[in-house]
Amino acid sequence: MSIEAGRLEDLTVDSEINVVITGGGARERALQWKLEQSERIGTVWMEADLDRAIDFALDPNNAIDMTIVSPDDHLAAGGVDRLFHAGMPAFGPTQEAAQIESSKAYGKRIMTQAGVRTAEFGVFDSPKDAHEYVDQSYRPLYVKASGLALGKGAIEALTAKEAHQAITDIMVDKKFKEAGDQVVIEDFLQGHELSLHAICDGLTYKMFPSSQDHKKALEGDKGLNTGGMGTLSPVPWFGEESVTESGLSIVKPVLQEMSNEGNPFTGLLYPGIIDDFIRRYVLEFNARFGDPETQVYMRRMKSDFLDLITHALAHRLDEFELEWSDDTAVCLVAASAGYPGSYAKGKLITGIEEAEEIDGVKIFLAGAQEEDGKLYTSGGRVLGVTAMGPDLATALDTGYAAMERIQFEGKTIRNDIGKKSLALASA
Ligand code: GLY
Repeated sequence: MSIEAGRLEDLTVDSEINVVITGGGARERALQWKLEQSERIGTVWMEADLDRAIDFALDPNNAIDMTIVSPDDHLAAGGVDRLFHAGMPAFGPTQEAAQIESSKAYGKRIMTQAGVRTAEFGVFDSPKDAHEYVDQSYRPLYVKASGLALGKGAIEALTAKEAHQAITDIMVDKKFKEAGDQVVIEDFLQGHELSLHAICDGLTYKMFPSSQDHKKALEGDKGLNTGGMGTLSPVPWFGEESVTESGLSIVKPVLQEMSNEGNPFTGLLYPGIIDDFIRRYVLEFNARFGDPETQVYMRRMKSDFLDLITHALAHRLDEFELEWSDDTAVCLVAASAGYPGSYAKGKLITGIEEAEEIDGVKIFLAGAQEEDGKLYTSGGRVLGVTAMGPDLATALDTGYAAMERIQFEGKTIRNDIGKKSLALASA
């Protein structure tokens, strides 16, 4: 689908720009924080509900110039398309292009056509065919709901019995609702995971530095998958040349393939990578900024973020010089006890100001709400402590020192963020 860019020309002139960000987590707060440092920024509004965000953005009384559609479900629901059709510049892929994340089957097909290395796989619409595929496989597998499932739709199946059970859970018992109408079954790969981000405007892209999330709830990468318990950037064992090479072998061919199909991608493309130090594979594509990757990227970005976004929207990314701090940034997540399962809410949070008194520290709130001047927990991931330092070890020391100053009942953190990467870098 081709859509018109709305009032894009207004964004390239030297006026103040008012922005709406859809979404309401720590990622969106980090985007807002960085936008507010831009020279031409007016007011930045955040709205978690997509319909309300669109109504607000399109109300002429609010004089909004541009919207950033941030979360995966807002993109998959066509948030960008709705805004563009109403004449409002909107950053993010169209609904059709966002399929690279919202349909794992689509992502796999594009990767195959583009020659991007990914795990061997099959796509199935019926449990019977899926069970047969498992019977013919002799390897550990991942069984994945093809649709969006809050980052929880991938089930590790180290035995055939576990794989059959996963198919039943996803396709028959509808564990992830209609996201599991179709499944992708792929080989289980061993290696070290990392995140890449590329801002794209069709065929042009600019790579961000490498980053790494820690998705499991428990130390030692054990337990259930979460939205992310901590990030770092750059990854000390994945140098700039590896990022450049990944751009050429992953991002470039995928953008070309999508463009050839008449489905160009403008927005933030985030390939999840696994590297076994022999080969790199793409595990999946996301069509948005990572959370909590964004928190470390916004801390390290030296360039004017509003200018970056407007250049992407105006298809002038090639003119933009994207600059980063040489320092390392980390983000340590404090979660409610029980997350990613059920958890209590309404616990008093203290120590934010004291934590931010430490040089290089900035806190981004996520599941936290203010009431009568006090802050209370309201979600699973409550906040992210970000810290900067000349190297990973120093940034981590600073981040954990700040984290100690923050208290709420049930506060749960991982104490091993970055430990593996530190060991790998010194090996
Ligand atoms: N860092 C995980 C995600 O954004 O999906």
